Amino acid sequence: MSMLQRSAAVFLTALGLSASVAVHAQPAAGNPYNGNEAAIKTGMGLFRIRCADCHGMDAKGVRGPDLTQVWASGRTDDGLFGTLRAGVPGTEMPAIDVRTPDDEVWKLLAYLRTLAAPAPSEQVAGNAQNGERIYRVNCASCHRVNGRGGRIGPDLSRIGVARARPVLIRRIRGAMEDFLSGYEPVTVTTMNGQTVQGVKKNEDLFSVQVMDSRERLQGYLRSDVRDVTGGKQSAMPVFGPERLSENDLNDLLSYLSTLRGFDPSVK
Ligand code: HEC
Ligand code: HEC
Repeated sequence: MSMLQRSAAVFLTALGLSASVAVHAQPAAGNPYNGNEAAIKTGMGLFRIRCADCHGMDAKGVRGPDLTQVWASGRTDDGLFGTLRAGVPGTEMPAIDVRTPDDEVWKLLAYLRTLAAPAPSEQVAGNAQNGERIYRVNCASCHRVNGRGGRIGPDLSRIGVARARPVLIRRIRGAMEDFLSGYEPVTVTTMNGQTVQGVKKNEDLFSVQVMDSRERLQGYLRSDVRDVTGGKQSAMPVFGPERLSENDLNDLLSYLSTLRGFDPSVK
């Protein structure tokens, strides 16, 4: 349909006829439903059922990122359509399968577009350069970015798209209730009384694998282990205001938001 409209517009222009009529008939962007009230309402319903669990009722992010910022970050309707169809492989973000018609995907995006917010102001945005310095001093020993850094914690190369700001703040300030899978704190006590502390990488009926604080991956057979105890305290230290001021946190978040893990020219 929009292909037809587009070629009609080109055709009219080529004929030298008033193209403005055709241009008006053409939707403002790639989404045929932008601004269409009924479609937006349908999109809202779909969003609440299929997306709100991870992205929040207000789309400002829970386990998934803040979606009110995606347009400000430079993404396009067509690019986002592709993301929704394909999901983000290797992450929690699922693909919308083929049983859902294109129409509904566009309606979802038309709804999200109504929530689109401008990029945060310079003040909120903080100083990413100082943030990077803070990161190198406090965080890089445990986290990797683009192949560099430690391995005790997860790779943060995509953290700028993967998590919403409030979630990052809770994690850094130590207010997160849950542990990420593969990073649960654990203490293993062997039959001969040796204890090893670290994060649990894997556990099955016969064995358990732990990465200790020196990044050594240790595997134990169940038969050699007396006890495996999960800890209550995350292996990530708490960065309270005495360690990291509000200003420094703001700068750090600003740096983390630049870690987008993909070629920014991809829309
Ligand atoms: C099970 C949790 C989950 C569900 C359900 C989910 N998402 Fe996501 N979504 C994520 C996560 C996590 C990411 C970040 C992936 C990454 O890049 O690391 C993401 C990323 C995205 C992105 C890309 C953002 C960007 O800046 O590139 C869009 C757009 C998106 N989700 C929209 C949706 C929509 C619309 C739905 C409902 C149809 C949905 N998501 C359902 C977890 C989820
Ligand atoms: C001693 C190692 C260590 C240090 C230092 C450390 N982290 Fe972590 N980080 C971890 C571990 C382990 C996890 C997984 C936490 C969990 O599940 O409890 C984690 C988790 C995270 C997450 C969540 C990632 C996700 O995918 O949701 C973020 C964000 C993060 N850290 C940022 C930081 C920042 C920013 C700093 C510096 C201010 C920092 N970390 C310092 C070990 C560390």
